[in-house]
Amino acid sequence: MSDSARGQKRVAETRFTLSQLMGPQDANSLGNVHGGVIMRLVDEAGALVAMRHANMPVVTVAIDSMTFMEPIRIGMLVMCKGELTYAGRTSMEVRVEVTAENPFLGQSKITNTAYVVYVALDINGTPSIVPELVCETDEERMRANHARERQEFRKRQRAIEDAANSKGSAS
Ligand SMILES: CC(C)(COP(=O)(O)OP(=O)(O)OC[C@H]1O[C@@H](n2cnc3c(N)ncnc32)[C@H](O)[C@@H]1OP(=O)(O)O)[C@@H](O)C(=O)NCCC(=O)NCCS
Repeated sequence: MSDSARGQKRVAETRFTLSQLMGPQDANSLGNVHGGVIMRLVDEAGALVAMRHANMPVVTVAIDSMTFMEPIRIGMLVMCKGELTYAGRTSMEVRVEVTAENPFLGQSKITNTAYVVYVALDINGTPSIVPELVCETDEERMRANHARERQEFRKRQRAIEDAANSKGSAS
């Protein structure tokens, strides 16, 4: 696909929520939900958002630091709400907000927010152009501005790592 034929999609079209009831198989040794279970759900929800935007398979290239503010108990309903915050040429950033709900009491709390970057791949596994992202509200525009700054930072970090790795392999 050429850059001029990439098309556009609205943030609202990318929104998606993945929900899962936490069972005994999700427990850590303390009987709460294992952090890795939440990380996996976040990545799955984020990938679905990115796939809906790109209409193509995607792979994860970066996950920003995730902070677990409160334990999630077994028996709680975990909801990962995702939306696209950035579409580069072939990369996309997804914001995933994790909420845990006690289904008996109907009480819910946000337990963490993560930003995950995906790249769309064509059938040959080559990065492929994705539609532009259209923001319609001030909040969407603010999130897109922050996402652009994060992606610039990741690109600088990647360049530093690449330079360090090539020095290491040359010595
Ligand atoms: C995705 C992959 C094919 C990209 O290859 P690459 O050689 O880095 O390709 P490019 O340099 O053209 O980068 C492609 C896009 O990814 C972005 N990107 C690459 N590494 C990144 C990083 N660490 N953080 C943020 N963005 C990154 C680039 O900025 C570029 O974005 P743009 O097209 O919007 O400008 C390759 O990195 C890969 O296969 N990674 C492994 C993915 C994987 O297996 N994930 C786990 C399982 S899902």
